[in-house]
Amino acid sequence: NRIAVLISGNGSNLQALIDASQSGEIPGEIVAVISDKADAYGLQRAKDAGIATQVIAAEPGESRAQYDQRLGAELIRLNLDLVVLAGFMRILSGPLVERFAGRMFNIHPSLLPKYTGLNTHQRALDAGDSEHGCSVHFVTAELDGGPVILQAKVPIFPGDEADDLAQRVHQQEHRIYPLVVKWFCDGRLSMVDGEARMDGQAL
Ligand code: GRF
Repeated sequence: NRIAVLISGNGSNLQALIDASQSGEIPGEIVAVISDKADAYGLQRAKDAGIATQVIAAEPGESRAQYDQRLGAELIRLNLDLVVLAGFMRILSGPLVERFAGRMFNIHPSLLPKYTGLNTHQRALDAGDSEHGCSVHFVTAELDGGPVILQAKVPIFPGDEADDLAQRVHQQEHRIYPLVVKWFCDGRLSMVDGEARMDGQAL
């Protein structure tokens, strides 16, 4: 399996995927790491692991459609089985998402369908929730709205601040993302009629 990971920042999820791929836990190779930000620390992680990196940054005045076309052309050229969004802070438009339907994942730091978008940890605290978590889902044209494959929950303790929660959620992200990618590479996951399936069964 040929995998590309798209990032914009720190890349701790990328690191978890690199580790799982290099240890053989994921039967797939990360053939490229692409960032829209030149200063993303995740690029260094990729280089340290001997993985090819690319920066595809938005150009001044470029429309979303134009950017997505450039990115999409590169993804197609890489001849990928799977595209993994790991802290990639851009919204991808319909044609690109459809080109990779069933072969593109995102990880989101909330228990979807709760708290799509940004600032999820603070929003969970403000709502007085007693639990929070993260979700891996297939990417569709709806922001953070594609069918969920796997979630992990964490407790919210009295006195928690957003950073405490972010840390607790990250630990779970690093556990579930490699697992889902492994399932995909083992041929167990699909998206049929907008529904996530594992071994042919609806999730
Ligand atoms: C994670 O919290 C992920 O859920 C969100 O962006 C963050 C990326 O963190 N989509 P990292 O760059 O993998 O450390």
